[in-house]
Amino acid sequence: MSNDYFSGKVAVITGGASGVGRSLAFALGRRGAAVAVGDVDAKALGDTETALHDEGITALVQHCDVSSPESLKAMADATLAAHSGGIDIVFANAGISAGESGKMWEYSMHDWQWCLNVNMWGPIHSINAFMPILIAQDRPAHFSITGSGNGAFLVYPDAPIYTVSKAAVHAITEGLHYQTLDTPVKIHALFPGPHVVETGLFNSGRVRPSEFVKPGATDKNESGISSVDDMKRMAAEYGMELETTHPDEVAANALRCMERGDFWMMETTPETEAKFERRHQMIMQRQNPVPEVVGT
Ligand SMILES: NC(=O)c1ccc[n+]([C@@H]2O[C@H](COP(=O)([O-])OP(=O)(O)OC[C@H]3O[C@@H](n4cnc5c(N)ncnc54)[C@H](O)[C@@H]3O)[C@@H](O)[C@H]2O)c1
Repeated sequence: MSNDYFSGKVAVITGGASGVGRSLAFALGRRGAAVAVGDVDAKALGDTETALHDEGITALVQHCDVSSPESLKAMADATLAAHSGGIDIVFANAGISAGESGKMWEYSMHDWQWCLNVNMWGPIHSINAFMPILIAQDRPAHFSITGSGNGAFLVYPDAPIYTVSKAAVHAITEGLHYQTLDTPVKIHALFPGPHVVETGLFNSGRVRPSEFVKPGATDKNESGISSVDDMKRMAAEYGMELETTHPDEVAANALRCMERGDFWMMETTPETEAKFERRHQMIMQRQNPVPEVVGT
């Protein structure tokens, strides 16, 4: 067997049929890990399964809705049934953007509920489904939760619902870290970046459950942004060039950080660090907050 750190390990990835999760599945699989990919997007799951198998990666691919504790339990059971040696790595990664825009008091409750169901309850249900397994194994393992600097560090003025969800995610992740310091399980906070990552996040409406569809909704988000290209176009209208990051880069950095045992899986630019610094100073000097966003 190869002596690659990830070789022979079993990794579960939620939201693994697109974007960051898909890149993580391939990055892990190419380094000899067996992957269990869960997602709600049936078509993307099928495509991912074929592509993983074409590369000879050992992969269990199944429908998994992170807003459902039963669905995550079924994912854990299926992974253990396929791999009697247990589970080494979990990436609680699935997430959506509700595409909100306008004033907070006018938001649809459907946006709040859907986003918090996936982005906040998803990690909570994932912890409940997988942490007892990792703790009972009593051997080194990793549990990563995908957050966002917009929420963990800054407050994105145009996307309060997403920001709220990711603020909660960070509190959950850091709390989990403190509660597992005396165990062999390492907790990781994954922040995709350093720029906007070229994924399907801005078109999350494709997997919006029917019960959360808003009356009169079109296939475009209210924000007018349904893709990274839309964001680029909008930036260009203001004379700016939007830099982007490929999800493979995010996955490569995540695995580097995981192998080192780092809590923070985060790449930043000097501009982002300056924003963090300004926020820190703003708090220390009791200045009224001004809007700043990570990734742009
Ligand atoms: N793209 C970025 O710039 C960026 C920045 C910071 C954080 N993130 C975070 O990265 C994570 C991955 O998102 P992405 O950017 O790769 O977007 P993506 O849309 O490409 O991938 C997200 C995946 O999650 C799946 N998903 C949605 N609802 C689900 C549910 N209920 N259960 C299971 N799977 C579900 C989607 O079908 C999709 O395959 C998210 O948590 C997101 O918030 C992304």
